[in-house]
Amino acid sequence: MSFIEVAGAKIDTRHYIGGQRVASSQTYTNTSPIDGTFLGEISRGGEVEANEAVAAAKRAFPAWSALGPAKRGELLLRLAELVEENIETLAQLETMDNGSLLRSHRRGVMPRVALNIRFFAEWAINELKHESFETRGHTNNISWDPSGVAVLITPWNAPLMLATWKIGPALASGDTVVLKPAEWTPLSASFFADLTKQAGIPDGVFNVVQGFGREVGAVLTAHPDIARISFTGSVPTAKVIAHAAADNLTPCSFELGGKSPLLVFADADLDLAAELAVEQYDNAGQVCLSGTRILVHEDVADAFAEKFRERALKLKQGDPRDPETDIGPQIHQVHFDRIKGFVDRAKAEGQEIVMGGEPNDELGGLFFKPTLVKNPTPGSEIVTAEVFGPVLCMQTFKTDTEALEMANGTEFGLAAVVVSGDRDHAKRITDELVAGTIWVNCFFVRDLRAPFGGSKKSGVGREGGNWSFDFYADVKNTVVSPNGWKE
Ligand code: NAI
Ligand code: MG
Repeated sequence: MSFIEVAGAKIDTRHYIGGQRVASSQTYTNTSPIDGTFLGEISRGGEVEANEAVAAAKRAFPAWSALGPAKRGELLLRLAELVEENIETLAQLETMDNGSLLRSHRRGVMPRVALNIRFFAEWAINELKHESFETRGHTNNISWDPSGVAVLITPWNAPLMLATWKIGPALASGDTVVLKPAEWTPLSASFFADLTKQAGIPDGVFNVVQGFGREVGAVLTAHPDIARISFTGSVPTAKVIAHAAADNLTPCSFELGGKSPLLVFADADLDLAAELAVEQYDNAGQVCLSGTRILVHEDVADAFAEKFRERALKLKQGDPRDPETDIGPQIHQVHFDRIKGFVDRAKAEGQEIVMGGEPNDELGGLFFKPTLVKNPTPGSEIVTAEVFGPVLCMQTFKTDTEALEMANGTEFGLAAVVVSGDRDHAKRITDELVAGTIWVNCFFVRDLRAPFGGSKKSGVGREGGNWSFDFYADVKNTVVSPNGWKE
């Protein structure tokens, strides 16, 4: 059976290669993290499918790249409209597959998917330009040319949303795409492939291969015929991909993990601080940007902790399809066990767990209680490693210097949240923080014109606005002399 019906839509469980549905002889079983519902036997790609997908994308490249931004834009804007027409299906589908909140998918995430496509299509047409400048009468003309086949490898925590951050600019650049979604969340990408067909995107321009990273992903990333690799996922996988890319010197863009600080200063609005801190449990803590290390000035630590606790205890855990639910299940048994392992080891070390710290036995399944670890031992695993679950640490500091040392004392540098009531103070702090994105008295405000990415081990490169095109395109400078013209 190559279809499964979810949310009233027929979702194909096969690959999408060269505009055709292609099955593999091998499959793997996809289930819903909500309740274990069977969600299809998914084609499990390997070397053959990876090679076919790259070949299809390569064949489609000359015509797609020659089309130009305006013609490509027409098709991409039609695709964005189709996403908008299918928001309800996409929302239900993604919730079934990855367990994130249905209300977030409806209101925030899926409209954002459409925006990702539309934004980059329009950017390529209207914004992507550079002022020409003169060098002793010579003109420098800078252009962004299509580069070839882009391989996109994406994670499960926000599957279609993170994939379209890449698909949008790659296709708008004139590249053709092979997407490999995470094996735990194959469905939204497959449905999206149908939408690309409906939008009239030519066969082979957008391809999806399903399967495991170490199988099909490894072949794609080592392929000599690809021009770009864009990956969002974990640090260990990024290292494997960097090795795979090395032989061909394929340029890579990496969006990786984090252990971001959320700093609460003595001059902060503590209600706002507590609200922002509790938001870090969003998506059951499976958010790369999450400020999982709450650093609080000791003078306000008790007052803050009380406000935090009050709000955190009100969070409702349960079925992500229920509009009342704040925290759904973890994605998969393997990941659930990983999170529990972190917490169990912290307990065994004698770390102080002041909230949660265990599975939610009332709900069973993959539900883990929102957890808070108080004053973890500096350097211990729970406060240094990315848990990627609903587990926050709270520590106190005395001075700004100490706060900055703690905040920056990590191998990661994805994001930071600063809560302060004093603009000059906040500026002094943000000047010293090492992070790709810093939010002051807010969280998760993301403009697609802005650069997004990680410092240190949190990533290589930036996405957003021109930064995305600088990566996907071949940037070219043509220097034109004032001399030698016949006219
Ligand atoms: P992961 O690294 O295990 O997998 C991500 C993707 O890589 C999957 O599609 C997987 O199949 C593929 N993959 C695995 N091994 C591969 C190989 N050898 N070659 C090619 N592809 C391979 O990460 P996971 O568990 O799916 O996602 C969670 C991680 O992603 C967290 O560390 C999180 O911080 C990070 N993340 C980063 C974001 C960012 O924007 N910086 C956003 C969301 C997640
Ligand atoms: Mg699934």
